[in-house]
Amino acid sequence: MIQASELTKRYGAKTAVDELSFTVQPGVVTGFLGPNGAGKSTTMRMILGLDAPSAGEVTVNGRRYRDLPAPLHQVGALLEARSIHTGRSAANHLLALAQTHGIPRRRVEEVIDLVGLRSVARKRAGTFSLGMGQRLGIASALLGDPATVVLDEPVNGLDPEGIHWIRNLLRGLAAEGRTVFVSSHLMSEMALTADHLIVVGRGRLLADMTTGEFIAQASPALVRVRSPHATRLRELLLGDGVTVRSDGPGILEVGGLAIEEIGDRAATEGLTLHELSAHQASLEAAFMEMTRDAVEYEAAA
Ligand SMILES: Nc1ncnc2c1ncn2[C@@H]1O[C@H](COP(=O)(O)OP(=O)(O)OP(=O)(O)O)[C@@H](O)[C@H]1O
Ligand SMILES: [Mg+2]
Repeated sequence: MIQASELTKRYGAKTAVDELSFTVQPGVVTGFLGPNGAGKSTTMRMILGLDAPSAGEVTVNGRRYRDLPAPLHQVGALLEARSIHTGRSAANHLLALAQTHGIPRRRVEEVIDLVGLRSVARKRAGTFSLGMGQRLGIASALLGDPATVVLDEPVNGLDPEGIHWIRNLLRGLAAEGRTVFVSSHLMSEMALTADHLIVVGRGRLLADMTTGEFIAQASPALVRVRSPHATRLRELLLGDGVTVRSDGPGILEVGGLAIEEIGDRAATEGLTLHELSAHQASLEAAFMEMTRDAVEYEAAA
């Protein structure tokens, strides 16, 4: 479990992380979302003791990182910057790391297989593609069989097969009861991977809820209706708290009414429907909506 309490980081006049409080629970994948510059990497560096908070604190299993007796066995991390000795082979890189932490050689072989680097394990890591480098970074993070895993943008540079692989890996780690905290700004990917979301903007907490709740809250549910009687149906549906938008001839997008209610009302009047469907808002749309005022680096329109 990771617990941040009023966690704050200032760089001069800039507040990168602003009184952030949250808990990352074991057994689920928690996505850490936010626009560029929102403070995700800074927060992760503070979790790992690489940056000192200006105020507040963050603990892993009740202790600050630097007070953990055997950190590599408790927290595995992949941070943004690649820190791989380029002259070494992947296997030697992992072996060196294992040896300095009393981890048996057998575990090195295990993680090489786990991340799918077997065929290139003897090659120099400096020749690795971005995706292979990410896999090696993940292998390093998992070497100590940690109960808590912190990954900063692990999907960066991975091809579709790699993205699929990491999704299953993260879900598997969570299913084993581990605490999995993973940052991304790829909303569609997080929608498939994360059970819970912590969303930040300009260093502040914007949301801390399940992925389903986040989508439902950020953009209201709409029902899409297609009917040759769209005009009459529109009049029939309009009322207090109901919005009806037209999205082309014969098509209505209805807010504020349950899908059953719309179908029932149409049936009462004998109006034919060609489509009646719940319009699922995407996480992408929900994210854009929620972080609209908190975007640090916005493209000029
Ligand atoms: N060492 C530093 N010195 C000064 N400012 C910094 C430093 N590190 C980060 N910042 C600033 O703090 C803010 C948060 O940066 P951070 O890297 O944590 O964001 P992020 O959410 O990880 O963004 P991204 O999605 O681009 O990775 C940014 O405005 C950044 O410029
Ligand atoms: Mg970052």
